[in-house]
Amino acid sequence: MSRVRVGVLASGGGTNLQALIDATQDPAFPAEIVVVLSDRRDAGALVRAERAGIEARWLPRGGGRAAHEAAIVAALRAQAVAWVALAGYMRIVGDGLLDAFPGKVLNIHPSLLPAFPGLHAQRQALEHGVRVAGATVHLVDAGTDTGPILVQGAVPVLPEDDEATLAVRILTVEHRIYPLALRWVTEGRLVGVEGRRAVWRLPEGAAPFVFGA
Ligand code: GRF
Repeated sequence: MSRVRVGVLASGGGTNLQALIDATQDPAFPAEIVVVLSDRRDAGALVRAERAGIEARWLPRGGGRAAHEAAIVAALRAQAVAWVALAGYMRIVGDGLLDAFPGKVLNIHPSLLPAFPGLHAQRQALEHGVRVAGATVHLVDAGTDTGPILVQGAVPVLPEDDEATLAVRILTVEHRIYPLALRWVTEGRLVGVEGRRAVWRLPEGAAPFVFGA
């Protein structure tokens, strides 16, 4: 059975990419990662991709956003990608990518959206004194972290937490929910979007959330 081809965009260390690589290395997983692109030459994500034998390319930002996005789209199309997963990709994506892959771009954000979109989500959570934090996999739309929510993972906020310790705890659920979301979308379980709400058709007993440490 042929698997759904997925491209990943990442700017950082790539632990979410690694979680996706690990999951997709099971031949029974419905998707495979065929290309990893980064706007940063020194991204750990590129090293992780190379180590896994996946095409890894640095696409520098020079030349403006439209040109950069055109280069990304060309690289994704060259690999016949059907879905795109942003995994710690630190640029706002624009129409170039969204029009090329309508409704097929995923992102992971380290908060329980719609709380704390944008940068420093963990710091925002601490500043607000929330008792539960987490992460969200969502479809990407033109806004910043505003697209339909697919899967969420929750973790407690502990009194002694700082930004770093909370970020690590949130990452543990990120690494669980991203493979889950990728599995379900590439199995065709996303029925549609009604208003802001994503509608799933999930296997018996499955739920689009996890509670972590
Ligand atoms: C994660 O917290 C992700 O939610 C956010 O950026 C971080 C990336 O971490 N968008 P990594 O590069 O996957 O380790």
